[in-house]
Amino acid sequence: MKALKPAILALSILAAPAFAQVSVSIDTTRPGPVINKNVYGQFAEHLGTGIYEGLWVGPDSRIPNTRGWRKDVVGALKELKVPLVRWPGGCFADEYHWRDGIGARNKRPVKVNTHWGGVAEDNAVGTHEFFDLVEILGTEAYVNGNLGSGTPQEMAEWLEYMTSDTKSTLAEQRRKNGRKEPYKVAYFGIGNEAWGCGGNMKPEYYAHLYNHYATFLKTPPNARPKMIASGGNDDDTRWTEVLSKEAARGTDGISFHFYTLPTGVWEKKGAATGFPEAEWFSTMQQTLRMDGHIRRNVAILDKNDPDKKLGFYVDEWGTWYDVEPGTNPGFLFQRNTLRDAVVAALNFNIFHSHADRVRMTMIAQMVNVLQAMIITDKEKMLLTPTYHAYKMYIPFQDATSLPTAVNNDVAYSSGNKSVPGISASSARGKDGKVYVALVNTNPQQASDVSIDLQGQAVSGVTGQVLTAEAMDAHNTFDKPQAIKPAPYSAKAVDGKLTLKVPAKSVIVVAVDA
Ligand code: AHR
Repeated sequence: MKALKPAILALSILAAPAFAQVSVSIDTTRPGPVINKNVYGQFAEHLGTGIYEGLWVGPDSRIPNTRGWRKDVVGALKELKVPLVRWPGGCFADEYHWRDGIGARNKRPVKVNTHWGGVAEDNAVGTHEFFDLVEILGTEAYVNGNLGSGTPQEMAEWLEYMTSDTKSTLAEQRRKNGRKEPYKVAYFGIGNEAWGCGGNMKPEYYAHLYNHYATFLKTPPNARPKMIASGGNDDDTRWTEVLSKEAARGTDGISFHFYTLPTGVWEKKGAATGFPEAEWFSTMQQTLRMDGHIRRNVAILDKNDPDKKLGFYVDEWGTWYDVEPGTNPGFLFQRNTLRDAVVAALNFNIFHSHADRVRMTMIAQMVNVLQAMIITDKEKMLLTPTYHAYKMYIPFQDATSLPTAVNNDVAYSSGNKSVPGISASSARGKDGKVYVALVNTNPQQASDVSIDLQGQAVSGVTGQVLTAEAMDAHNTFDKPQAIKPAPYSAKAVDGKLTLKVPAKSVIVVAVDA
């Protein structure tokens, strides 16, 4: 997408007009690939209060719940139409032994969550509870298996336990534990971050292990999940290179992780709130690197997998800040502001532009951890700006992408560095309407964006805008509605449509014919 190419010209903000004049052209006559709804997937790991408290309070809690899952959080997530949830990790997946999480809850072993805070893990949420959540949410399941500290036998038996429709001992054990019909496992991940917490492996070694484990993962033919080979991260493309050659048999996709750190430095990532504009700018710059990462990995896939059998699954992404002072550093709790919503929308637009390969992604994570949709504090709950961005983009789930180009973009600059000012994406939704998403990365300058829609009449647009006065505007338990989307509409004049796009904003509109 033109708007997301690195800008060459460094334009000074001061020299730019009060309203930048940009045009976006959309060709409705040349539909592109479908944007898989699973691009809007979510990740729930046994980490901090991401599951325990954030989602699960147990059936005996005074917090209203459905069989242990809190009603307020689940109700809000249902409105997001979450298509897919990944569980139980993350790094946690490679130390998770599924047998710890079945049978009577009060008899399950208590383990230590060594990756995340060293806290007790009582295994109250296990396979049956997770699939109960999946069914309550009306979503699909992505189960991540333990390659790091487990065995091929343990992994194979978990899959049999979940999917077998026979009278095998494992299938009967599942029935005894309350589930007659097999569960539907849509995706199954074979390990996680094998280059790091998953075992500190080299790609060649992991590829051998992947093939070894995958050989024994058997299911009824109509119940086979999409198998995921755990891939690389950041600038490292070796994993895609090796896995697309060595682990391609029976594999549906190679995963990839990339987190947005304002400073780009793990030791001092930057704060979630109260940051200077320089860190707003660097966050935009960092997150837009996603496009280059996808391009480089997809080029490798196009060489090794020209028939496009393999998906490129960005199954962990989002902002990662310094943990909130006073909180357990192992819980990865951070606040979530307007900046996070802008980051989310920029990434959505990037994913749409690679819809043929990027068929699934998962933001990290769903509740209370990293770039969350929802934050809870005991019985209280609030929706974050990222939640609102996800909700605004629902029409893009399973929509057909449309070629979209940003022309005459006015770059947003800081010193001698620039990023695109406007990012745009469009698609024809399942309801037949054309949807347009616009993001203004510039926190100081609004833009006038004229929309040139080829092949379709336009009388105006209707939708929503998300913006605020402060770059770090966020919701609190005292002011849970401090930032939320507002209605947005514009009328075409003499057949010409121009949208006023506020500084630091996200807009999603439907085109009225
Ligand atoms: O999302 C938090 C952690 O980040 C995940 O457990 C791990 O896969 C990644 O390093």
